Amino acid sequence: MRIRLENKLPGDLDYLVVTRVPGSDAVASGLDEKTTALVNKVKELGGAEKYLETENTLYTEGGPAKRLVVVGTGKEFDVAAARKLAQTITRSLRKKGGKRIGFAFQLPEAANAGDLYQALAEGVVHSTFEPGFYYTGENKDEKVLEDVVFLTDSGSDLKDRVERGAVIGEGINLARYLSNETPNVMYPERLAQEAEKVAKETGLEFHALDENQLIEGGFKAIMAVGQGSIHKPRMIVLKHNGAGDAPYTGVVGKGITFDSGGISIKPAEHMDHMKMDMSGGAWTIGIMKILAQLKAPVNVIGVVAAAENLPGGGAYRPGDVVGSLEGKSIEVLNTDAEGRIVLADGLAYARRLGATRLVDMATLTGAIVVALGNTVTGVFTSDQAWTDLFLKTAINAGERAWQMPLFPEYKEQIKGTTGDLLNTGGRAGGSCTAAAFLKEFTGGVPWIHLDIAGTAYTESEKPYQAKGPSGQIIRTMVDFVIATAEGNK
Ligand code: BES
Ligand code: MN
Ligand code: ZN
Repeated sequence: MRIRLENKLPGDLDYLVVTRVPGSDAVASGLDEKTTALVNKVKELGGAEKYLETENTLYTEGGPAKRLVVVGTGKEFDVAAARKLAQTITRSLRKKGGKRIGFAFQLPEAANAGDLYQALAEGVVHSTFEPGFYYTGENKDEKVLEDVVFLTDSGSDLKDRVERGAVIGEGINLARYLSNETPNVMYPERLAQEAEKVAKETGLEFHALDENQLIEGGFKAIMAVGQGSIHKPRMIVLKHNGAGDAPYTGVVGKGITFDSGGISIKPAEHMDHMKMDMSGGAWTIGIMKILAQLKAPVNVIGVVAAAENLPGGGAYRPGDVVGSLEGKSIEVLNTDAEGRIVLADGLAYARRLGATRLVDMATLTGAIVVALGNTVTGVFTSDQAWTDLFLKTAINAGERAWQMPLFPEYKEQIKGTTGDLLNTGGRAGGSCTAAAFLKEFTGGVPWIHLDIAGTAYTESEKPYQAKGPSGQIIRTMVDFVIATAEGNK
């Protein structure tokens, strides 16, 4: 799919989408007379008055497109609304067979055009993702978007913002692709290969530790989790040096390529969803790709702690005490609380590689889904000031995040009997005790933990989004690491 800005529309569009601001007499500029007259007619009749109202599909002749769609922006057309409008309209028109789509945006007067154009481009790219990777025959979705044109007479500033939006959209789609890919294919070694591919395309530095290097290096925690699978763990690293010798932010992702629960096996129902248990890792790879492509002036180390959690003759068991790179011993009570164990080594390794502050993303606990539902990311921290910046950034990016407590009492719940730390503190406050566990491996540096178990995966199709991996919080993370570097905090 190509996305570009033109000051004149090509003549062969399947659809031309024109936005309409309610209460305004203006029509998007640059349109031909006939189209302008049609849009005016829609206005006169009071059509497309509300946000996303699109019943006004007109069939046109001789104009730039076969069909004209007038869509309302509603009164409060902010960045999030713009992105969602682009996702919804583009997705719907593509599904109707639209291959070449033009957009002529009339935006609210007070709007920041750059921010909105970036969001619109992001939304268009986001809409191209579908999860049916292995559809064959008539199931195969041949409905592919080829060409998208934004009509505008403005100059290079908007062009930069549209490109930025497309880069972010593509990074998010890469993360969604990795997350959606099936667990028989996307095991730790393959995830490492995907990261290497990204590095080759973008100039990121890459290395991945294989099982021998992990054993040699003392990564006992991640090795324990992965020991039941023939697909052995990998510690995957992508590095972006965009700010000389400035401090590095470590972005660490949980990369469980399949979580069966291990010996503490999960119920069969919905176990298939656990192919997405590497979403934190997938998001990490997407974020690193975006930062590299934007040539962001930041220093970031991305670490993906990848392992497969399976039961079997070689698997780790409840009762085992396992070591870790950090040195602390972990008393395993439940092999299904594996994410925190692989992250223990991931967080420690990011620091060894030079990270002086850490953010991790993990589909860590079912308890966060109970607490916050499927649209809100749970946020835990050891550094309130830095987290305030994160929460503000999330609001601006239009993504929901909510801070959860991390009181010292939670640590008491995970005090071990035979080893230092229990890998579960029981049902009560399950997300908080999981966070308390992770904190023990951060060495006291500023750290933010994002529990994305509720938000990583969309269980049902939405008009604005396909079923499956969401990519949610990636956009916030990109803005956040950039804002962090700017404030040098
Ligand atoms: N990957 C799961 C958490 C999860 C649940 C992600 C639902 C997405 C949707 C995690 O490894 C897990 O199994 N956590 C356990 C921890 C418990 C055994 C302490 C849980 O939440 O039940
Ligand atoms: Mn688990
Ligand atoms: Zn898991």
